[in-house]
Amino acid sequence: MSAKAKTGTRPKDAKPAVFAHPSEEEFSRILDFYGVAWEYEPRSFPLREEEGRLLEAFTPDFYLPDLDLYVELTTMKQNLVTEKHGKLRRFQERYPDVQIKLLHRSDFLSLLANYGFGPFSQMEVAGIHEVLISASEIERRVGELGTEISRDYQGKEPLLVGVLRGVACFMADLMRRISLPVVIDFMAISSYEGEKGGAVRLVKDLDERLEGRDVIVVEDIVDTGMTLNTLLQGLRLRRPASLHVCALLDKRARRLADVPIDYVGFEVPDEFVVGYGLDFQQKFRNLPFIATLRRDWLQSRAQERPE
Ligand code: IMP
Ligand code: MG
Repeated sequence: MSAKAKTGTRPKDAKPAVFAHPSEEEFSRILDFYGVAWEYEPRSFPLREEEGRLLEAFTPDFYLPDLDLYVELTTMKQNLVTEKHGKLRRFQERYPDVQIKLLHRSDFLSLLANYGFGPFSQMEVAGIHEVLISASEIERRVGELGTEISRDYQGKEPLLVGVLRGVACFMADLMRRISLPVVIDFMAISSYEGEKGGAVRLVKDLDERLEGRDVIVVEDIVDTGMTLNTLLQGLRLRRPASLHVCALLDKRARRLADVPIDYVGFEVPDEFVVGYGLDFQQKFRNLPFIATLRRDWLQSRAQERPE
């Protein structure tokens, strides 16, 4: 991160903003992630007066001082959008020198890419459809999972077994929310399409012995369940005292193998998701939220993939 980006975020002594809408909080976190300075509703612009009385004013949601740009976020509700457009038109007539942009949720990342922010090239950011689970929602839910596990394993020392690489973010956050002594270990597998369907090959085995231990397999996402199913069969042979599963995401609609998941972070729809550890062709893992990819973009990229 550049020195400018570090000083660019909100000053530490600033009053915490109380957001009127969750998407505003999400936008502020994305700005923080990219180190873009922001102010929440810093100014009201008078739009109409009558005999010295203010009849209408406009308070844009954000001001980004580095870009000298006001940002107003829109909702999906059509009647509100029409009203907002009218207001914005009156605003631009009266303040032609003030830069303002009306932004939809799915435009967040492209806007920032257009201004040259972030570690992602414009093309890669363009692949993001929308944020499905925000960083704050993830943080809250991972905390709850940690509390549940701490309660269920009281008096024990669970061994958390992570499956690389998608689990990196989840494992790092989850283990810090468990208030018990824990041991962590990782395994890596690679799945490939064999003649008899999908198969799983062990690329890196665990260093810990499982016999007599209370094992929790930590997964990023369970999709068809085939990977987890094969994995659990192998781990059971090592005679752990107990074997349970904690998955951040559950794409239940696509389940083929009936695997028990004891702790689930979020159920997600049948969409390809990236971020918070999850990748598409090794990219997007460092997004702090979970987002869906644009279908057209996904298809065009998947075709380029070597078989
Ligand atoms: P399964 O064997 O079909 O359950 O596949 C599980 C694995 O596929 C996960 O551990 C991920 O590595 C990958 N995967 C499945 N769905 C997604 C997704 O939406 N985004 C990223 N990776 C996924
Ligand atoms: Mg995986």
